[in-house]
Amino acid sequence: MNYDLKIFYNLDDLSKQFAELLKKEVNSVKDKFNFVLSGGSTPKHIFKYLSAHYQNNIQWNKINFFWGDERCVPPDNDDSNYKMAFENLLSNINIPERNVFRILGEVDPIEETKRYSEVIIKNVKYDKSVPSFDLVMLGLGEDGHTASIFPHQLQLINDDKIYSIASHPVTGQQRITITGQVINNARNIVFIVSGKRKSEIVADILTNKIESKKYPAHFVKPINGKLIWLLDQNAASLLKGNYN
Ligand code: 6PG
Repeated sequence: MNYDLKIFYNLDDLSKQFAELLKKEVNSVKDKFNFVLSGGSTPKHIFKYLSAHYQNNIQWNKINFFWGDERCVPPDNDDSNYKMAFENLLSNINIPERNVFRILGEVDPIEETKRYSEVIIKNVKYDKSVPSFDLVMLGLGEDGHTASIFPHQLQLINDDKIYSIASHPVTGQQRITITGQVINNARNIVFIVSGKRKSEIVADILTNKIESKKYPAHFVKPINGKLIWLLDQNAASLLKGNYN
């Protein structure tokens, strides 16, 4: 598998790299840039960093914001990925409301997966009959999940829908998630991982260990796009590599 791996001393250095990559990619497109956000604590740090240091030097109004997954809760609930992104990034930058395409966690999930898929069909360019986002940001769970594709629902990797319903393996909380085929059709996929507790799973996936086949993140393999792993030194502690 081809990927680009970068390791950083801390989350601020990692966030800076992400910010520079986003800036460059946004500058490289003529029209709209379709960006898929992730939930989780590492993305939250990056959102804060972008708000603090890149408020005025990314062409934010060129970006359409989408989500890779959402918990089925209202937007003012603390579990909402939209709420997290709004509080830590979207409310701090200058963007028209029409550029924000949130997943409605508060409505019937079956209807919402259909509605949100239609939104994607209308707004995102296709490549070989599958939508192709410009950048998909992904977190990695300690159980190998990414977006809301958990190990007990590996079929979501090859699901032919754009978004599907998923459930959290422990709490049973319903979620809506992007499917594997759409992730893999993106132009850029960026994994953002921090913390010692992720070091084993990161090493298993990146060294292609046989066990990693049970982890959804193992199946993230872009068809034509680029795959980039940004790790802090804790997440990378079982890998050999040079720091950036
Ligand atoms: C979510 C996420 C999920 C997350 C990982 C990593 O909504 O929960 O999209 O895939 O990114 O669980 O989260 P942490 O960065 O908090 O470990």
